[in-house]
Amino acid sequence: MRVWVVSLALLAAVAGCGTQPMIQPQLARPQAPIEPRKLARRLEAMQPGWPTVRRIDCRRLKCVALTFDDGPGDYTGKLLDLLSARQVRATFFVVGQMVAAHGGAQLVRRIVAEGHELGNHTWNHPPLTGLTDRGLRFQLKHTNDLVERVAGVRMRVMRPPYGATNRRVAAEARRLGLAQVLWSVDTLDWQDRVPALVARRAGKAAVGSIVLMHDIHRSTVQAVPALLDLLAKKGCTPVTISELYGRTPAPGRMYSARVYKAR
Ligand code: NI
Repeated sequence: MRVWVVSLALLAAVAGCGTQPMIQPQLARPQAPIEPRKLARRLEAMQPGWPTVRRIDCRRLKCVALTFDDGPGDYTGKLLDLLSARQVRATFFVVGQMVAAHGGAQLVRRIVAEGHELGNHTWNHPPLTGLTDRGLRFQLKHTNDLVERVAGVRMRVMRPPYGATNRRVAAEARRLGLAQVLWSVDTLDWQDRVPALVARRAGKAAVGSIVLMHDIHRSTVQAVPALLDLLAKKGCTPVTISELYGRTPAPGRMYSARVYKAR
């Protein structure tokens, strides 16, 4: 909440809405140290922006996580319309440069407001394993910071471009509080721009699958209605990554599907 107040004040200042009153610093009273678990809970509660989590139990439901990479782009708005009409939530792995582009910030805000999950897909999509430590940190942190500034949320998941990761990438992701999310179903939607084909491949998802798609392609967005029909016919519930695992994924750890012991 506090973040929004500050950013609104900044916005007003930038937009030239008159002079801002000087804020008098308040003298802080000395406080007793906070017990660590209490502090963690308080920090969690302070994370602004993420909408209320739905009560979805993926231990009982047949959950499938749909993920859309490389946006936000020209077709993301249309995709959000389609998902919202069917009350479906997904995860968007956004590229910082696209968020910074014209219209990107509004789309990211809309993604959050409509209950989807946002993930970090680096600043400009290089294979992270070939970068220096500094380059690697820039790719993830710069994107994290921009998204936090424009949408008021701190991302909890990242996807390394091309799935290229190693111990250094994992360590940096952990430092920034990001879990690494790969996939178990690849639709190859960037290669074959045929909606029926994309829907059929994505529709092969099994319980616990994470499906890889790209919302920068019109054909992928066109595939979504048929895909949702296919999943509904199989009794599958589309969910976000955090919903699939029933909790915030652990920073640094790698996820590519939810594995069930017995169902
Ligand atoms: Ni990508």
